[in-house]
Amino acid sequence: MHTRLLHNDPQGIATAAAILRAGGLVAFGTETVYGLGADAGNDTAVAAIYAAKGRPGINPLISHFASADAAFAQVAATPLARRLAERFWPGPLTMVLPRAAHCGISPIATAGLPTAAVRVPAGDATQALLAACGFPVVAPSANPSGRVSPSDAQHVLAGLDGRIDAVLDCGPCRVGVESTIIGLGGDTPVLLRPGGITLEALEDACGMTLALPARGNDVRPSAPGQLSSHYAPGLPVRLEATAVEPDEALLAFGPPLPGSGLAWNLSATGDLHEAAARLFAGLRFLDMEGHRRGLVRIAVQHVPEHGLGRAIRDRLIRAASPRA
Ligand code: TXA
Ligand code: MG
Repeated sequence: MHTRLLHNDPQGIATAAAILRAGGLVAFGTETVYGLGADAGNDTAVAAIYAAKGRPGINPLISHFASADAAFAQVAATPLARRLAERFWPGPLTMVLPRAAHCGISPIATAGLPTAAVRVPAGDATQALLAACGFPVVAPSANPSGRVSPSDAQHVLAGLDGRIDAVLDCGPCRVGVESTIIGLGGDTPVLLRPGGITLEALEDACGMTLALPARGNDVRPSAPGQLSSHYAPGLPVRLEATAVEPDEALLAFGPPLPGSGLAWNLSATGDLHEAAARLFAGLRFLDMEGHRRGLVRIAVQHVPEHGLGRAIRDRLIRAASPRA
């Protein structure tokens, strides 16, 4: 299959929507990362996403909508969900809610679960595409399963060229880490995945402390498929480095450790927003260039666990987890 590169203009967006409507797979940029889109109501198209990514069928997908009203037509929204939507949508927040009685999202997309993950992404091109579609679009990150997420169109082609119909080039992603996922099905809200909306902002909006699932489990019960090895570059990753070896590449944060021949600084000034936006491009760069230079590992400096640092650390810990 030949993958087309579509430009972010009215014609590119119309073509992307037409391909999706016909059951094809189109990757597109969101404010977080590039997603691999398909018509959420089309079983065959949804199944093709799992095949293109090599994704286990037990790992459900997020459905994307142009508006909160469109999203809440498919799930049973609670008052808290509506409040969060008002505050954070469009934006990098995903809510897991019970499927509505007449939910049009393919059961393949929700992996047979009674819940569905929904979000309204930000970004002019993303919004224009979803509006042109007029149906929910499922979109996991547009990378082969387990590998580093894509934050520009070239990253998508590097992993999926020839396996998908098209990529809509929306430029580099502004946020750079995936959406925060909050589970709203139970008695208290649960943080299922840290992401682009900080825990601090979410707890403020909820007016309560969120439950945090235990880290390090291979499968989180309420979020099947959140396997611990994920975001993995080809080179092994070593966290909390306080010195760098001659055969290591360095992923720095703040003042870089001395002595590294090859380095990528997430943010020289220690700005977590800049660091999130540069994270996946940095892992890709160090992996490719480090491999070319015969380096054996990526050493990562400490990133603080507050604000966006929580999401950055989560991705790095998964990148460093033992490979299956
Ligand atoms: O920012 C994002 O969320 C990006 C962009 C493209 O929107 N998408 C993304 O999708 O990160 P993906 O497939 O890479 O991650 C989706 C996560 C998975 O960990 C999955 O297990 C979880 O969402 N998820 C989906 N549906 C769920 C459900 N019903 N219950 C619990 N977790 C769910
Ligand atoms: Mg992903």
